[in-house]
Amino acid sequence: MPPALTPDAIRAHSSARWIGTRIECLDTIDSTNSHVRSLGLEGAADGTVVTAEEQTAGRGRLGRSWVSPRGRNLYLSILLRSGLDASLLSQLSLTAGLAACEAVGEWCAATLKWPNDVLIGGRKVVGILAELEARDSDRFVVLGIGVNVNMSRAELPAELADKATSIAIECGREVDRAQVAGRLLTHLERRYDQLHRDGFAEIAAAWNRLSAMVGRQIRVDEPGGIVTGEVLGLAPDGALCLKREDGREHRVIAGDVTVLGGYDRVGSGE
Ligand code: BTN
Repeated sequence: MPPALTPDAIRAHSSARWIGTRIECLDTIDSTNSHVRSLGLEGAADGTVVTAEEQTAGRGRLGRSWVSPRGRNLYLSILLRSGLDASLLSQLSLTAGLAACEAVGEWCAATLKWPNDVLIGGRKVVGILAELEARDSDRFVVLGIGVNVNMSRAELPAELADKATSIAIECGREVDRAQVAGRLLTHLERRYDQLHRDGFAEIAAAWNRLSAMVGRQIRVDEPGGIVTGEVLGLAPDGALCLKREDGREHRVIAGDVTVLGGYDRVGSGE
């Protein structure tokens, strides 16, 4: 087993100033998102970070679970309080995806898939779950990030073998999880401060540059049905803009996206 994560080891690789002022590194937890939600309700400070060596009930988007084997990957949640409301939640999670893509990019060429998956060679390496807590006057967001760091191919569940990967699989060597966590916090703070200072336009432009989707044909399973079209890019409000076959534009606000024809090895440099 690799050394357990510690606050000092993570801070040694982070230049974030307020994200991670408090870091808790847990051993086993059901879900770091659930734990941070409890800390938030108890009044914990903006930027509090929790990691775990393993999650017994890791949660993903759309009610899915998140595979969380012990000591291999990064399971991290952050409490964010400052000036957020429900309308900013999608911008915040897109911003987090961009920051995670930039962090993983320090090891391997990585790309973004809407809304906030990070891919290497077309396979998912990071997932993000942003949850808004709005109870009476207590409003905060729990930003949960799962990074497949050192999981080997053999450790991937069979149903994920074609869809998921890890930094180690792609780099061909194991990677220091504390370093990945520290770089992640650094990029997150920079992009989050930018979102609050300058708004979403610059973030959307950077997202479009790192996206593997612009110009591709996709299918979206939306709450109202299935839509296909060519991706034009991210709109300033966070919606994904498509050109449908009849030439009309369509905005995707929520849904599950499939890139038709697959990603091949987009972004892997191969
Ligand atoms: C997705 O489905 O893509 C989102 C996955 C989010 C997983 C992370 S791991 C840390 C945090 N705790 C959770 O229970 N989920 C998030």
